[in-house]
Amino acid sequence: MDPKDLRVNGKRLQSALEEMAKIGATPAGGVQRLTLSDEDKKARDLFVKWLEALDLEIKIDEMGSIFGKRAGKNNDLPPVMSGSHIDSQPKGGRFDGILGVMGPLEVLRTLGENNIETERPITIVDWTNEEGSRFAPAMVASGVWAGALERDWVYDRTDINGKRFEDELIRIGYKGTVPAKKWPVHCYYEYHIEQGPMLEREGKKIGAPKGILCLHWYDVYLEGEANQVGPTPMEGRHDALCAAAEMILKVNELPDRMGGNMVATVGEIQNYPNSRNIIPDKVHFTVDIRSWDDDHALKAWELVRKDFEDIATRRGCPIKIEETWRVEHSPFDEKLVQRILNVADDLGYSSLHMVSGAGHDASYMNQVCPTAMIFVPSIGGRSHVEVENTTWEDCEAGANVLLHSILQSANEV
Ligand code: GLV
Ligand code: MN
Ligand code: MN
Repeated sequence: MDPKDLRVNGKRLQSALEEMAKIGATPAGGVQRLTLSDEDKKARDLFVKWLEALDLEIKIDEMGSIFGKRAGKNNDLPPVMSGSHIDSQPKGGRFDGILGVMGPLEVLRTLGENNIETERPITIVDWTNEEGSRFAPAMVASGVWAGALERDWVYDRTDINGKRFEDELIRIGYKGTVPAKKWPVHCYYEYHIEQGPMLEREGKKIGAPKGILCLHWYDVYLEGEANQVGPTPMEGRHDALCAAAEMILKVNELPDRMGGNMVATVGEIQNYPNSRNIIPDKVHFTVDIRSWDDDHALKAWELVRKDFEDIATRRGCPIKIEETWRVEHSPFDEKLVQRILNVADDLGYSSLHMVSGAGHDASYMNQVCPTAMIFVPSIGGRSHVEVENTTWEDCEAGANVLLHSILQSANEV
């Protein structure tokens, strides 16, 4: 068969995604596969079983990332790499991350059954903890692998119950021995759902982002003074939750104040002791700021941090701020992005040159080798929710674009 006529098996991709969706399935049709949980382990075990059936060379690194390498004609050449993540948000969707792991798996299955040899090897990867919702920050395994984050700092991160990342990695049996250190890679493709409304709005099937916004994460801790809510007069209170409430609105107003080109969100909050008749004396909340312009995001943070300090002083609630994580905006390799647009065109799919507002391991891979992403539409622009959905037809289309993009790169010598 002329390799140009090669297509993935859409039904097989669908069934792999459906199998994975059973692991951590939630009542409203989503999945909850928090990183390093029992569900994450179960999905990893299944993924490894599927890699073994393809006779790949499997490696697990000390961050728990799983690599499967398909030999090429010349194994001295750096491989083409493609992957994403198996972990999910709490009550997340059935496509975020897993599509970018099952997609390249389907590509490798298609190449295998058609006895297609490539010049370069091809490596599939599942990166540990892309989401960052159980253990902050996100994308830690690709970050360590790329040399941008310290392995031991990540090992010591704790979840809300005080469990350490490294301990949980050992507990589920995925602390590998291979050093989490970059090796030469020819290029990296990450296949993902868009997670936003643009493709649907524009009526396009394939998205080729020019890059990913910067991501800045902060953790804010406030101290107040607890007391009985009934007898304690309103004046003179030090209510940590009220201080947080004012701060949260300041974050929400930030993009308008800054003149757009950014988003800012408080998504997580813990209030203590969280009793209706005790004045809150401890609050933790998170801040997420994203923009294509790193300086703009930093200026926004400086502005809101000053507001936080003023509010904390006025309300007599001491504040502690942790600047948890920063990833600069990532402009992808233009040639690779163009390749994706051309492949989509050759296959008869409409496409859109766009921007990714969601974070991806591709941000860190972009620091290591030429990188690009392939997006398919998210129905209703919904993601990180149980109703997250993408048509099977679009899943198949994106996998075909991935197949031919990988083939072209893997045959470059
Ligand atoms: C990753 O899921 C993100 O927060 O964009
Ligand atoms: Mn994702
Ligand atoms: Mn996600």
